[in-house]
Amino acid sequence: MFSRSAAPVGVFDSGIGGISVLAAIRRQLPAENVIYVADSGHLPYGEKPAHYIIDRALRITEYFLSQGAKAVAIPCNTATAAAIAELRRTYPGTPFVGIEPAVKPAARLTRSGVIGVLATTGTLASDKFRELVQREAPGIEVLLKPCPGWVDLVERARDADQAQALVAEPLNELLAQGADVLVLGCTHFPFLIEPIRKCVGPDLPVLETGEPFARQLRLQLQRQGLLRADGMGEVRFLTSGEPATVQDRASFLLGRRAEVARLPTQYCGLHTGQ
Ligand code: DGL
Repeated sequence: MFSRSAAPVGVFDSGIGGISVLAAIRRQLPAENVIYVADSGHLPYGEKPAHYIIDRALRITEYFLSQGAKAVAIPCNTATAAAIAELRRTYPGTPFVGIEPAVKPAARLTRSGVIGVLATTGTLASDKFRELVQREAPGIEVLLKPCPGWVDLVERARDADQAQALVAEPLNELLAQGADVLVLGCTHFPFLIEPIRKCVGPDLPVLETGEPFARQLRLQLQRQGLLRADGMGEVRFLTSGEPATVQDRASFLLGRRAEVARLPTQYCGLHTGQ
């Protein structure tokens, strides 16, 4: 008999940043079949208006559902902030799991009472993020650093000196303002951990949310009786961008060769036809 738990989980991000979270998903849910969509044709989400991201999220979800997906996981802070409420409204029968910057653990960890959050412009400007800070970090000074150039650093291989120079400036500002915990609120940023560590040293807590996100996904699937317990799952990669380019970068970040196919054309644009 066909088992619903064998159906794939749809995972999407604006590009290849979500691969930083995919490792945690594979570790914690090795039996799940995953379809990963890198929406590289519409990158970066962080500088786009919310309605644009909602449109893309709906399109990509339509694709996942056409593939029989049992759940959709969004390891993209910007897309979660902009679109998860609309996705849940539009598809009430589909479980959606979103991500959020690690403000809560950072607020618990800080001694100076100052934390720095590095994320996209869109995430930091969102109502969802404002509510998160109000709820989880009352009395804490939360310094916000939009880092528009950082996503591009990860998407296109840049040389190490260029990366170092670009990450150093906002980090030094946060340290000078007394931040003793940093939050990486964008899935692309864990891939910059080397230049970040060079700048802040080995001891400063730098938090990201891959493992808790994967735990949450596991819990949701379990609760709904959708968890696939046995076997070894596979990951299928697709992109709305240029498959060869995405394949090169994805393979580099994964540390193994990944085949990346083109997302079918009808899911690559906007409903408005742009
Ligand atoms: N990786 C995404 C995030 O976690 C968005 C990056 C972008 O496209 O601007 O926020």
